[in-house]
Amino acid sequence: MKIIVTGGAGFIGGNFVYYLLKNSDDEVVCYDKLTYAGNLETLADAMKSPKFKFVRGDISNREEVYKLFEEENPDIIVNFAAESHVDRSIEDPELFLRTNIIGTSILLDACKKFGIKRYHQVSTDEVYGDLPLDRPDLFFTEKTNLHTSSPYSASKASADLLVQAYSRTYQIPATISRCSNNYGPYHFPEKLIPLMIINALNDKKLPVYGKGINVRDWLYVEDHCSAIDLIIRKGKVGEIYNVGGHNEKTNLEVVKTILKILGKSEDLIEFVTDRKGHDQRYAIDPTKISTELGWTPQTKFDDGIKKTVAWYLENKSWWEKIISGEYKNYYAKMYDNR
Ligand code: NAD
Ligand code: TYD
Repeated sequence: MKIIVTGGAGFIGGNFVYYLLKNSDDEVVCYDKLTYAGNLETLADAMKSPKFKFVRGDISNREEVYKLFEEENPDIIVNFAAESHVDRSIEDPELFLRTNIIGTSILLDACKKFGIKRYHQVSTDEVYGDLPLDRPDLFFTEKTNLHTSSPYSASKASADLLVQAYSRTYQIPATISRCSNNYGPYHFPEKLIPLMIINALNDKKLPVYGKGINVRDWLYVEDHCSAIDLIIRKGKVGEIYNVGGHNEKTNLEVVKTILKILGKSEDLIEFVTDRKGHDQRYAIDPTKISTELGWTPQTKFDDGIKKTVAWYLENKSWWEKIISGEYKNYYAKMYDNR
């Protein structure tokens, strides 16, 4: 089969490309605009495989997407391409609407026009909004109402609704997965875990928003990849699957764990002004994917975070190039005088 992975030069898409190359005989085409978050160095090893091809393009450009479908005639499309950072969406929502909503609708139009065996939408648990900190008994299920907080999550929820509409109206064979926070190799350093690892390595302050008590449910990226792989092969058309491994941690716990692994002082922690509209707690109930598809996550947080820190130590050239470029301006804008 031929699988198009949109956004495959980013964090999770890149890991998914490697997952497919390692675990299947499928041909893999990565389609990516190479925004600030896309990085061809992430795909350097994939480029060596005869099963892999890279095409540069924008999911919100209809002409480019139709050309891609005409030339590649894919069996499956897995859509990772998105603007993915909540803080950037708070600064500038419009790009999120164009890529995440219009881009998804154009991919779906292409599936309708050219035909597809499966369209898979990589969504997020953030479409459910947040849970209160004092109700540890509550979890997101596939039946939880959509209740978004940020322009990012609103754009992802809109895309999910479009996927469901196209599935019902035009019988596009679609599935959706809604995963909790991922961590692991190739994670862009604007996000919590890589940002804290890199700052700690450089003895820079670690900017924790608010009191650091917000809770995220962390999943090692390879476990997310295995879930998507199962869904595209065995998942039921028209269904939504929540993906998460019950690894809930406060941000402060995560940051302290990283400092401990690196042998750095907690004095590096600096509490800064909170994120606007900051979601309190995310927590996935993965019962459906576990019972219906037999998915089980393999990596516990304590092991995954050690592997992740080790990866950043061993791959300094990957992230040093990023933080010495445009990222410097981003960092100054978001964190100086915060
Ligand atoms: P990322 O920001 O690291 O990568 C996004 C990739 O998409 C980049 O390679 C970028 O160049 C590409 N892209 C952006 N706009 C594009 C466009 N218009 N056309 C083509 N390519 C474009 O993101 P990520 O963290 O890997 O997330 C991937 C997907 O998974 C997103 O849809 C995100 O909503 C979802 N998700 C992420 C997490 C997480 O914890 N990171 C959790 C659940 C779901
Ligand atoms: P992030 O990695 O941006 O993922 P998301 O907002 O999509 O969950 O942030 C994870 C948590 O870490 C979130 O509660 C915000 C917090 N955070 C900080 O405290 N400091 C930071 O510098 C960043 C980037 C995030």
